[in-house]
Amino acid sequence: MRLRWLAAAACVLIASTVLLAHGEKPWPVPAAAKKRKNPVPATPESLRQGAALYRSNCLVCHGAKGKGDGPWVEKLPAPPSDLSDTPMMGEMTDGEIFWKISQGRGEMPRFELQLDERQRWHLVNYLRTLVESKPGAQAEKEHKH
Ligand code: HEC
Repeated sequence: MRLRWLAAAACVLIASTVLLAHGEKPWPVPAAAKKRKNPVPATPESLRQGAALYRSNCLVCHGAKGKGDGPWVEKLPAPPSDLSDTPMMGEMTDGEIFWKISQGRGEMPRFELQLDERQRWHLVNYLRTLVESKPGAQAEKEHKH
C-alpha cells in the first residue's frame, strides 16, 4: 500500500517538473508539426548563423546560455523557458521547437513574422548546442542517486 502511494507521489512530482520546465501551461504542438524534418543540416555555418540570430533575437529573454536569465526577465510576467534544460529539450523534436519559435505564445514572440524559415531552422540547430548534456547522459546521472 505504502509503495503504491510512493509511486503515485513520484508520478505527480515528475509530471509537475515537466510542466514547470515548459512554463506555466502545457504547450501542445500539432502532430504534423512535430514530425516535420529539419531540412537544414547543423553545419558549422548553420550554427554560426544560429548563434548570431540567437544573440540578436532571443538572448534578451532566454539569456546567453539559454537558462532563461536574460536582461529582460524582470519585466516579464512569467519566466522564459530554460533552453539548456536537457529533459525538456530532449523530449522535443526539431519540428516541435521550430513550430514553437514560429508561433510563439504569450511573451514569446511569433518569429514567423520576423525570421524566414531557414533562419528559424538555424536557430533550432543552435539551440541543440545550448543543452547541457545529452539526454542519455542525464538519464544515467538520475539513475545513480
Ligand atoms: C520577450 C521575451 C522572449 C524572447 C525575445 C524570446 N523568447 Fe522564447 N520564450 C519566452 C517565454 C516567456 C517562453 C515561455 C512561453 C510559454 O510557455 O507560454 C518562451 C518559450 C520558448 C520556447 C519553448 C520552450 C518550451 O517551453 O517548450 C522556445 C523553443 C523558445 N522560447 C525559443 C526562443 C528563440 C529561439 C528565441 C529567439 C528567436 C526566443 N525564444 C525569443 C520568451 C521569449
